[in-house]
Amino acid sequence: MALSFRHLVSASQVTRPDADFLMERAGDMKRDIAQRDIADGVRRHADLLHDELVGLLFYEPSTRTSISFEAATKRLGGNTIVREGIHFSSLTKGETPEDTYRVVAANVDALVMRHPQAGAAAVAARRLDQYREETKGRYVPFINAGDGNNEHPTQALLDLFTIEQECDRIDHLHVAMAGDLKNGRTVHSLTKLLTLYPGTRFTFASPEQLRLPESLIAMLRDKDVEYTEVPSLDVATKGDVLYMTRVQKERFNDMEEYERLKDVFRLTMDMVEEEDVVILHPLPRVGEIATDIDELPNAAYFRQADNGVPMRAALLATMLGK
Ligand code: NCD
Repeated sequence: MALSFRHLVSASQVTRPDADFLMERAGDMKRDIAQRDIADGVRRHADLLHDELVGLLFYEPSTRTSISFEAATKRLGGNTIVREGIHFSSLTKGETPEDTYRVVAANVDALVMRHPQAGAAAVAARRLDQYREETKGRYVPFINAGDGNNEHPTQALLDLFTIEQECDRIDHLHVAMAGDLKNGRTVHSLTKLLTLYPGTRFTFASPEQLRLPESLIAMLRDKDVEYTEVPSLDVATKGDVLYMTRVQKERFNDMEEYERLKDVFRLTMDMVEEEDVVILHPLPRVGEIATDIDELPNAAYFRQADNGVPMRAALLATMLGK
């Protein structure tokens, strides 16, 4: 199946058929990579990306995302070039980002980028479209691996996949998102994806200063999606899914404000031991979830992280036309 987007910049580009297809394919990848459920024990996808070179430009810290894109590519028999940190790039010599994207594009078959600025992903995708015109058709798919406090669509896809696996369905779910909803880019992307499914209901729990951006509230109103905003964590534990997030220190100008807000939303055992809510977190956590919660069967955040490789494998293979 061809996806409806050429580059993945925002979760708002993803249609329901795209998401359903990618979740199904991620399921295949998961079985294949784990060599489970394969009758003859032969991995069907081991050479799928043979001869494909994926460029990973990470201008902002990352562990899970960069490692899982790299693992996904290599599990499928492809290769990667990884560049991390803005200090080692020609941007410090004054090169424009557009020039960098153009030059990198010519060296790779797909480009994955994380960038500290919101909107940087859209600039890169546009530059790769220009490159496609210049070269009369050389298509280098671009994937946004997080741009500032804007979006993180591949995390949202693996979150959606995890929700489906943990809840055994993806519609008519009550999903609570908690923490830094203003700056949490994974929240922005996942909220968009969940509105593709009927009957989704949201509770947004955050301190007043970290509420969900108005543009997302307007999107929910437009789509007639039911939501409530609450200033504390208590009621957020009553739904089907609780998506916890870290207060995004790197987005604060005022460190005193960060210090005031960072520990306001902390999930402790007494809040969830009687609940069967599926607990998710994109990780890294820095104290928002007490570690004794990890032992609960419904603490799903490490299984969620494990879904990074299969979902990114599904996405790369599909965008590369394999
Ligand atoms: C998230 C991110 O980078 O936005 N991390 C990740 O990719 N799993 C969440 C975060 O950093 O808080």
